[in-house]
Amino acid sequence: MPSWLKDAVFYEIYPQSFRDTNADGIGDFNGIIEKLDYIADLGCNALWINPCFDSPFKDAGYDVRDYKKTAERYGSNEDLYRLFDEAHKKGIKVLLDLVPGHTSEEHEWFLKSKKNEKNEYSDRFIWTDFCFSGSRDYPYIGGESERSGTYLLSFFKCQPALNYGWLNPDESWKCAIDSEAAVATREAMKDVMRFWMDRGCDGFRVDMAGSLVKCDDVKKTGTSLFWQDIRAMMDREYPECALVSEWSQPDIALKAGFHMDFLLNVHGGGYSRLIRDYQNNTDHNILSDPFFTGAAGIDEKGQYEDHSFFKKDGGGDICLFLEEYLNFYNASKGKGYISMLTCNHDTVRPSYNLTDRELKVFYGMIFTFPGVPFLYYGDEIGMRYLNLPTKEGGYFRTGSRSPMQWKRGKNLGFSDAEAEALYLPVDPAGDAPNAEDSLKDPDSLLNMVKALLKLRHSDPDLQADAELEVLYAEAGRLPFVYRRGARILAVNPGSAEVSVRLDAEDRDLIFSVGEGCLKDGILKAGPQSFLVF
Ligand code: GLC
Repeated sequence: MPSWLKDAVFYEIYPQSFRDTNADGIGDFNGIIEKLDYIADLGCNALWINPCFDSPFKDAGYDVRDYKKTAERYGSNEDLYRLFDEAHKKGIKVLLDLVPGHTSEEHEWFLKSKKNEKNEYSDRFIWTDFCFSGSRDYPYIGGESERSGTYLLSFFKCQPALNYGWLNPDESWKCAIDSEAAVATREAMKDVMRFWMDRGCDGFRVDMAGSLVKCDDVKKTGTSLFWQDIRAMMDREYPECALVSEWSQPDIALKAGFHMDFLLNVHGGGYSRLIRDYQNNTDHNILSDPFFTGAAGIDEKGQYEDHSFFKKDGGGDICLFLEEYLNFYNASKGKGYISMLTCNHDTVRPSYNLTDRELKVFYGMIFTFPGVPFLYYGDEIGMRYLNLPTKEGGYFRTGSRSPMQWKRGKNLGFSDAEAEALYLPVDPAGDAPNAEDSLKDPDSLLNMVKALLKLRHSDPDLQADAELEVLYAEAGRLPFVYRRGARILAVNPGSAEVSVRLDAEDRDLIFSVGEGCLKDGILKAGPQSFLVF
């Protein structure tokens, strides 16, 4: 386990929208370098940068054309190496985004794989054996290649699935997970990883990590074997580099070798109960959206009731979250970390339905829960979800990918280009939050985050490893009280003061949003409070 993870707090950067230093309207590596001090000052000591590799950008870079070359629009490989160096000088680690499940349809491997004559890449992707035969379980494309066969997709049409084999090959065109072709794909992915880690990168966030071996791998045996092999390589060759999975099943992902696994606010999942628990919804589109964030819902706000736990008086139930979380926590304790996110580039920003005060209480909890937390750029200032037309395959996700708001004035400090030339427009609202003003306002969300992260870094009991114990959590009741090591913490998202009897001595409040006390065996939590005793 890389030792730095126990006190890591990540900042996720969507490079397109962070900071543009050459006035071409899109963010760049130099822009990230320019803002490293801001990130360090906020209390984040690690970055996750979304894919920044050569790509036709049909899925914002998750369609990689060349794994070893940066996209020119962000800068050269050398610029990225410099970013690693500059970040390290400031004590910041840098994780890149690894997309092992598919390439772009323009990747050289795929172009060669399409050819009729057999070559090194023929089996790098998953092909059926005849131009008219497809797959029962996956979308596939036919009619586009010289070779007679159809190929399986991993996500969008532009993303052919790489071949990691099948657990139980039941058709002639499926190969086993230990076949030569599957092993060659795995070794090719290792080669990509080594390339970047040799040049200073500190590990990877792994895209769609749980679905490499296709559908018959229900228990994830095949996919887990793949990652265990990768982990063994990392332990041997890069013991201080880290892997975090987009999997949302920490009980499985951490056993498979990941150091951390994200909990995403997937519809119906426990995490979604915290900030995305919409019920009595009359709009089917929102409910059918796996991220529970469909743009269809954006104009339909009145049509659902928000029962998210952190919604003031939303009537949410922390037990619905805890039931899932504690199962994951108990199953993965000692094996790796669960990562809680403020949100990410695929989901609606939490400010969509939570006010700044609600966000403070929410962030209070996620930054003091076990494991390694992630903050999505702009969530520290309460940046808004914008209703934007799709860009680079973003669809409803585009609204969470708008340019970072640094200060008042031209393009809110994101870029010196003309507004029409920007990758995406900046928030046009007159009261759009910005980092500069937030830093000056002692009551801002940003300053709350900063103070809490400072406390976290000073106190191992608030970091990744300290034990979690639930002290009070009852359906329909508040507050929610938990212990981390020697600290007692309480969360009350409601508008009324609440109290609960605790078997604990009197303690001082060392951090708070709102008011509260712990005296004579009674913990009192004021309206909308987050308390650390
Ligand atoms: C992951 C990424 C998402 C991308 C998809 C396909 O879910 O987070 O942005 O579109 O994988 O690579």
